[in-house]
Amino acid sequence: MRVLSGIQPSGDLHIGNYFGAIRQHVALQEKYEETLYFCADYHSMTSLRDGPERRRATRALALGYLACGIDPERSILYRQSDVPETCELAWILGTVAPLGLLERAHAYKDKVAQGISMDFGLFAYPVLQAADILQFNPDLVPVGEDQRQHIEMTRDMAGSFNHAYGEVFKRPEAFILEDVAVVPGIDGRKMSKSYGNAIPLFGSEAETKKAVMAIVTDSTPVEAPKDTGTPLFQLWRLFAKEEEREELFARARHGGLGYGEVKKDLLARLLASLGPIRERHSALGMRSGFVEDVLAEGARRARALAAPVLAAAREAAGLGRG
Ligand code: ADP
Ligand code: TRP
Repeated sequence: MRVLSGIQPSGDLHIGNYFGAIRQHVALQEKYEETLYFCADYHSMTSLRDGPERRRATRALALGYLACGIDPERSILYRQSDVPETCELAWILGTVAPLGLLERAHAYKDKVAQGISMDFGLFAYPVLQAADILQFNPDLVPVGEDQRQHIEMTRDMAGSFNHAYGEVFKRPEAFILEDVAVVPGIDGRKMSKSYGNAIPLFGSEAETKKAVMAIVTDSTPVEAPKDTGTPLFQLWRLFAKEEEREELFARARHGGLGYGEVKKDLLARLLASLGPIRERHSALGMRSGFVEDVLAEGARRARALAAPVLAAAREAAGLGRG
């Protein structure tokens, strides 16, 4: 089975990315023979217009993946723009992507509703994503629920191409990752790079402490019962075993448990639990050239896997001399 997924390098990784995506990507490499993960730097161009920052964030994402346990011996880790054939396939797929399909994309509709000006890249985002996927004919594409529609659109584009030119692309299945019930940010909204409400995955101890202490709480006095659906408790539960959760939540509901105590305990758990990956992050970060070497080898292997699929698409579409 071949598995493929990607993350955009549009800012520093946070614990929502870890629980919602990376941790599960790492687990999948144990389960499936072929896993490919990539840093979607072309995609990040739809929101970030800063070249040096993109290059920095792309390397940081790759380093983050490696620190979290992506093993370059088992998985292919590459930078999207090191496989520029992706853009050729995006053109090809664009010619079988109906306008109506693209207009139904949630991301596009949301931007229009917010009055954000639209450019071709943002509109064509799902076509590029379809190219990322179809060039490898993967069996499974592990993503969060928010990406389900993009995978369905990918299946539609594969179907339209095959209908016009013959069977070239497999229709991939979305593999919706274990629902970690969207990790809340410290302000209670979804944790996101763009909201400034994140607990950084690789922050220093001081940064981590600052973020944890800033988690929103209400003014319920210590003695009063607490609502365990609030962000503080939901973040805490990510670092607790089931029995511990039951015990702490029971104490919270009973009253007598203060927010300060929960924050302190959360901080201690978070530092202990993320300690090993943070150490690996510092160690790998000091190995000059390591990340670029991994990405170069990843791109070489990725291009080799994509080549026969792209050749078949070109041949079927009558491109080149044949
Ligand atoms: P962000 O919202 O910070 O820009 P992305 O959209 O780049 O994050 O998401 C990268 C991956 O991390 C996606 O697979 C997404 O599903 C996951 N992810 C991001 N934020 C969260 C969150 N708060 N809870 C769970 N998963 C998340
Ligand atoms: N759009 C995805 C996200 O924002 C990232 C992505 C780009 C992706 N291309 C992909 C995910 C291909 C899976 C497969 O999370």
